[in-house]
Order: sequence, then C-alpha cells, then structure tokens
Amino acid sequence: MGTNFIIDNKEEGKFLVNRQTFVDPQILEEEQDKIFSNCWIYVGHESEIKTNGDFHTRDVAGRPIIFTRDDEGKVHVLLNTCTHRGSLVCRGENGNCKTFLCSYHAWSFKNSGELIGVPLESGYPASFNKKDYGLHEVRNESYKGFVFCNYNNEAESLEEYLGEAKDYLDYVADQSAAGMEVIEGTQKYAIRANWKLLGENSIDGYHVSYNHKTYLDFMVDEGQDVSKGLFGEGRSLGNGHAVMEYEGPWGRPVAKWQDNWSEEAKVRIEKKRQELINRLGEEKAYKVMDASRNVWIFPNLIINDIMSLTIRTWNPISPDYMEVTAWALGPVDENEEERAHRLDSFLTFLGPGGFATPDDVESLETAQLGFKKTINEVKWSDISRGMHRDISPTTDEKQMRSFWRKYNELMTVDEKQNSEKEPKLV
Ligand SMILES: [Fe+2]
Repeated sequence: MGTNFIIDNKEEGKFLVNRQTFVDPQILEEEQDKIFSNCWIYVGHESEIKTNGDFHTRDVAGRPIIFTRDDEGKVHVLLNTCTHRGSLVCRGENGNCKTFLCSYHAWSFKNSGELIGVPLESGYPASFNKKDYGLHEVRNESYKGFVFCNYNNEAESLEEYLGEAKDYLDYVADQSAAGMEVIEGTQKYAIRANWKLLGENSIDGYHVSYNHKTYLDFMVDEGQDVSKGLFGEGRSLGNGHAVMEYEGPWGRPVAKWQDNWSEEAKVRIEKKRQELINRLGEEKAYKVMDASRNVWIFPNLIINDIMSLTIRTWNPISPDYMEVTAWALGPVDENEEERAHRLDSFLTFLGPGGFATPDDVESLETAQLGFKKTINEVKWSDISRGMHRDISPTTDEKQMRSFWRKYNELMTVDEKQNSEKEPKLV
C-alpha cells in the first residue's frame, strides 16, 4: 500500500491530488528533504552580479545564501553562516565588496568564500588550517545565465535535469544577440497559501477568462482584441517541468507590435523581427517573437514570457504561507520606449498590485482556507481536465499533472526502496 499523494487513473481519465499535501506540516518537512534538497533550485541570473565583488543575499530552498562573483569573475553560491559559530557573515541585501565579515567574532572571508582573517589566531593549535574553514560552497551550475544550485552533490547535472525545459530558457536567452539582463527593482510579496498552488496557478489557462476579467476588460478598453483567448497548448516537458504556450492578445517588447504603440516602434520592431529570423531561422524566431509562454521549472521557478518577461521564484515558509520574489528580464540593448512597455506590463498585469496578481492571490488564499477548514470532509482536488485527449489546449490541466507526477515520484522514493514503510496518508 503506497502513500496516496495523488490518484492517477488513466483509464478513467481521473487525476486527484490529496489536499493533505497543502496543509500538513510533516509533508512540508518531507518536501524540504526530498524535493528542495535534491532538485536544482533557481538562485539568480548572472546579470545580477555583473561586476566582480557584486553580491545578493537571498533564501534558496530555506537556506540563507550569498550569490556572488569573486575577484576573478567566478560565480559562487555560499552559505551565509560563519563556519566558526554560525552567525550571518553578510547582512546586506546586495552590494559590492571584497570580504564578508562575521559580526560575532570578526572572522573574515574573501568574496570567493575563503577564510582570510581570524582574530587572536594564536589561540588555535598549529593544526588549525584556515583552508578548512571557508564558507560552504553549494554546488551550482549555470544555463544561459540562469544560475541554479543543488544541495545534493550526487544529483544529475543541471542540463540533464532541465531536459526539454532548456529550449524554453533558450527562447529567453536568444531574444537579443547582445544578451539579457535582470532589470533593477525586485517584486517581493507573500501569499497565505501552500507553495504548490502558485506553480499550478502560473500555468493555468483555465482561470484567465474568469479570474482576470478585470484585466481583459481593461485590454478591450485599450482597443485590443481578446476574443481568441490564450490560443495554444499545454504540455509536459518531462522531469516535472511544464509549459503553457500560446498566442497572447498582447504586444511583446521583444518583437511583436501592439496596436496602440507608436509608429516608430512599429518600424523598429519590424527590423528586430528580421534580425531574429536571420539569426534564429523562421521557426525559432516565431517562438521568440510571437509566442507567449508560462514555463514551470520544477519545483519553484516560473518564467512568464508574455507581455513582459518575468522570473518568479518562491519559498514555502509553512504549509499555508509562501514568500515570492519576481524580477523583470529584458534585452540589454532595448531602447527606452520598449523598456517602458516592458516595465509597465511587469507592474500592470504581473505586479503584486497589478491587474492579475491580487486576483490570483485571493483565489489561492481562499483555496487554502477551504483546504484547512474542510479537510475532514473534502479530501481531494480534481486535476483531471483534458486527460482523455493527447493534445491539450491551454485550458486543460495537463501542465499541472506533469508537476504532480514528478512530485509523487520524489515523495514516495522511500516506499519504492522500502515497501515495509508505513504509509503516511490514506
Ligand atoms: Fe492568474
């Protein structure tokens, strides 16, 4: 008898998710162990630490880390805990520095993590070697500027882990021959809901017409045609990754003009389209220019490549609370008008106070309340939509099933190794 996190019945076309996975603190602990400590977790974009000495501190999979570039230009992901007695060695959110200094006993570390200064060092025996006390470096790898880390040194490489999802990072990285950059200014907000709900929500084409009616009405008022909805497809990319890809009813600053943008922008965008076709070929250029997509990279990274381009990641704090961070990404060589359109959309639709996020937050928070209060009576959520067909429109739930199947595989790994183990859920 296995742990029933999901019921995946292909014959009946039925896919259910156990609502305990949204409310049970013990399950969150297991997720931290089996998912967040074993998967490649997004840390940041290389453009955030352009100059040697640049750093950002952030929480990645529940650990405090320093994302930094050392004096030789090498990227590091260091645990922000002094190897002496544990205090933070870097208290700033970001900046540029050559050394990190622990405020407790003033041990100092180079921006590569190497221990270089120990006050009253003569108090240690001759066997004491500073080389043994560098800041702990977390295994990290980069794909096209996206830096991930993994707390499991035995795990597969990042490229193997990403698999088909690599193509979708390519569609982002290839938007400009000059490169892409995270634009300064970070969105941070919290949602009183389980962390998995935000992933589901971010690739959910079903809710858009209903939950985001205000935004669609706003677009109509602006003179845009929203009658086709999000015409496209939801797909699994393997390894738990998934995408919803479609033609959106909006312009894209990368190279898709929108009716109410200027005529100069139209001319400039036409030039960019030609450059993209020449550089990438018709098929790939179409993906980069015209297609919109929401990509969920397992377990907690979303790339919203839509009317703006955002990187969104989030950390579970408790079963019913998560902290979210989002950044806007754009070509380094785009002009002021395109950058303005991009940042406007980053706020207007996707921002924490925009037309979409408050609607989503409200839906997720009320879902969480529903799970908590009715868990004894209503035990399952239904994610079956479209199971009877091979090709799924964006309004199906195939994308989410991709996540849940991988989730179930990772969460039940012990049971496969030890069938004697007591099930935690029934
Ligand atoms: Fe939404």
